Amino acid sequence: MSNTPAAALPDSAESCRFAKQVLGWFAQHGRTHLPWQNPRNPYRVWVSEIMLQQTQVTTVIDYFNRFMESFPELKSLAEADSDLVMHHWSGLGYYARARNLHRCAQLVMAGHQGKLPKDLESLQSLPGIGRSTAGAIRSLAFGHYAPILDGNVKRVLARHYAVEGWPGEAAVLKRLWQLSEHLTPQYQCADYNQAMMDLGALVCVRTKPLCGACPLAQSCVARARGEIDRYPGKKAKSSKPVRSAQLLVVLDDTDNVLLQKRPPSGIWGGLWSLPECPTEQLGEPWCQANLGLQVKQLCQLSSRRHTFSHFHLDITPVVLRLEKTLKAVMDESSLVWYNLSLPEDLGLAAPVSTILQQIDPKIPIVVNNEGEAR
Ligand code: ADE
Repeated sequence: MSNTPAAALPDSAESCRFAKQVLGWFAQHGRTHLPWQNPRNPYRVWVSEIMLQQTQVTTVIDYFNRFMESFPELKSLAEADSDLVMHHWSGLGYYARARNLHRCAQLVMAGHQGKLPKDLESLQSLPGIGRSTAGAIRSLAFGHYAPILDGNVKRVLARHYAVEGWPGEAAVLKRLWQLSEHLTPQYQCADYNQAMMDLGALVCVRTKPLCGACPLAQSCVARARGEIDRYPGKKAKSSKPVRSAQLLVVLDDTDNVLLQKRPPSGIWGGLWSLPECPTEQLGEPWCQANLGLQVKQLCQLSSRRHTFSHFHLDITPVVLRLEKTLKAVMDESSLVWYNLSLPEDLGLAAPVSTILQQIDPKIPIVVNNEGEAR
């Protein structure tokens, strides 16, 4: 049992003042011209909220506009080919979001007459929609009361109330949700939530916050203590492990490249990638054993590091020429010969796009004695 007394919540006068200051700031400085706000409907709000998980507004805007051109309504997304959906997500990262979005559209068509539900419980039961995203959809799309707690809001609240500890810890998260629930006003909830996200993104930023422009500066506890940098608390450091892999660029005699679809879960899940060969194995026998292809290695390209949330991956691209197709030993549906001159709209893992751009079929690959490409 903890001996720590339950932390007090602001009284109603203080909560009112807090919301009033936030809304006053929003009327002057809040973002009201984002593409998903004009026009605003539940489908557009939902897609934008999923894209905005872990990704900044400036990055999302172009992806959102392209997505809406191709899938203007929930029905068109539900009926779309999954490769095309992944293609629209390519480069945005965290690909489980795209798979969940697609699946979610199909579930909403099948179980909710094609309309996103309004209540938090039904929203949260859909894939990819957690508590904060459900709150954002309910408030921004339907105008109902619902608290949110994304990374920006966590930072504003943690600083303003000097909430100790890393928000990934259950007790800290619970305290932040308590504050968010308590401070979120019943009326103008959409504007308030948007304001809190904007305040976190534009003013109460991670480093060098612009306290001179903050409507809450006078009552901010972290600021009064001169300890803004201490909040939100950081996770105890653990360095990321480094893994390595060879990505095989197998070219046929008309300069098509062999792509392989990744399994649905794990890194680049559901995206098209290059066949991955463990670093301790040679590409030629690996291709024979795993793909039924006789190939000859031409060269290696320079290694590059790709960083995921939990590890670094050091990638060495290896270029090989197909000499003969032996028997097919892989599931054919997960393989495709990709024409570099007439590329199809496939969802490619971002480092794979970069590698393919370096393979120009018009320039023959010249290899020196060390097997390095020149
Ligand atoms: N981050 C998550 N949702 C957002 C939104 N609606 N506006 C700006 N940033 C966000």
